Order: sequence, then structure tokens, then C-alpha cells
Amino acid sequence: MIKLGVNVDHVATIRQARMTFEPDPVTAAGLADLGGADVITIHLREDRRHIQERDLELMHDTVFTKLNLEMATSREIVDIALKIKPGQITLVPEKRQEITTEGGLSVASQKQMLTDIVKKFKDNDIYVSLFIDPDKEQITASREVGAQSIELHTGRYANAQREEERTELLQTLSKSVKIAKGEGLRVNAGHGLTYKNTGPIVEHLDIEELHIGHSIVSRAIFVGIETAVREMKELIYKHFMIKQNL
Ligand code: PXP
Repeated sequence: MIKLGVNVDHVATIRQARMTFEPDPVTAAGLADLGGADVITIHLREDRRHIQERDLELMHDTVFTKLNLEMATSREIVDIALKIKPGQITLVPEKRQEITTEGGLSVASQKQMLTDIVKKFKDNDIYVSLFIDPDKEQITASREVGAQSIELHTGRYANAQREEERTELLQTLSKSVKIAKGEGLRVNAGHGLTYKNTGPIVEHLDIEELHIGHSIVSRAIFVGIETAVREMKELIYKHFMIKQNL
């Protein structure tokens, strides 16, 4: 079964809107756990616009499942991650002005720097994934810098307006999964996925983890986070079973 990683950053976004103590993303992570999340993801951004170090520390101590820390490659954040030691880190590009992570990491253009960082994490028993676009050059470079896993950026697929474009992007993602597996990498996917567009991803991509945030937290406002997570788990299960019978 494909595992579900739930990103709880946006619970912290609401808290930070008032610079107060509620809602607490640590509570959200606990309830997401109860709803069946297989992974809890948070992004400690350099500008601290949502998740704070306190959240990372508390989740590291309280999350029962795997904690996946999304992070940029800046010295400050790397040092924090090496101190806290989450189970998994996902390196992402980060720009101050962006609303959310926009493109994938350019691994091919920063191989030496990434090789050094990846080694530091692996030496500390931290599992390393790289968030990249579905592109052969980036996939090969990810293996070359020593990453154990990649997360394929599904944003373009999720934002596609026309059906043919969506189908084409799904094929590109599917080819990328095969290339990555051929390189010996584990493959995750995420960004922009919702209760409407996740089904085809489950049916067509042979991946390990799906990482979903905004859509689950949005639904949680109305139904509660435990239920929102459970509904996404059920959706993944339903499409996984369809795939088994294809
Ligand atoms: N994967 C990565 C690497 C991300 O940066 C994000 C956004 O924080 C997600 C997945 C989740 O994206 P969304 O919130 O659109 O589901």
C-alpha cells in the first residue's frame, strides 16, 4: 500500500496569523496519527512563516510514526536538523517570496554541495529524500549525490487545466518513477494533490509515499483532521485496489 504523509504546516500558518498558541500543529500531528497518517511532514522554513523550532522539537518527541522534515540546504537549518535528527529529511528549494515550494530542487547544478550535505545526514542515520521535478537529469543526479529517495513534484499535474495535459503529465511522472527505480531510488510524490486528483496518481505510479498538506488541512477545518486523514487513506486504499485489479 502507498503510505500517506500528512503535512501539517498550514495548522501553524493559522496560528502564526495571530502569533498565538492555537491551533497547535503538534496536536494536529497527534490527531493525524490517529487518523492513520503513516508519516508526518513539516517544513521548517528559514523565514519561520509557519512551523517553529519548538514544533519540530515537540513532534520529534511525540510523533509515533515517521517524522519527515522538509528543509532548505542553508547552514542554519542543516545544523538544526542534525541536532534534532528526524527520521527523514526532504531537501527542497526555498525562495522567500514564494507562497509554497514552487519548483523542484536543481540537483544537477549543485552536485558537490548536495553530496556533502547528503553524506552528513546519512552519517547521522537520517534518511535523505530530494524533492525534484520529474526529469531524467535530476533523477540521475539525485542518485549520484547519494540520496536514498526522491519525491517527485506533482504540482504541474495537479494544476493542469486540460485533460490531455493531465494525462501527458501523468505519463511523464510514471516514466520518471521507472527511471528512478532503475537507479535504485525509492520514490515518493507530492504537491498540489487533493481528494479529486490523487486517485490517478495512486493507480498509475508505483511509489512508496504520497505527501499531502493543503487539501487535507482544508477539509479538516470542516470535518476535523482525524476524519480528513482517514478519508484520504480510504481514497488511497480504494484506488490502490483498483490498480491491483487492472
Ligand atoms: N511535498 C513538498 C516537498 C512540499 O514542499 C509540499 C508543500 O509544503 C508538499 C509536498 C505538500 O503540498 P500541498 O500542501 O500542496 O499538498
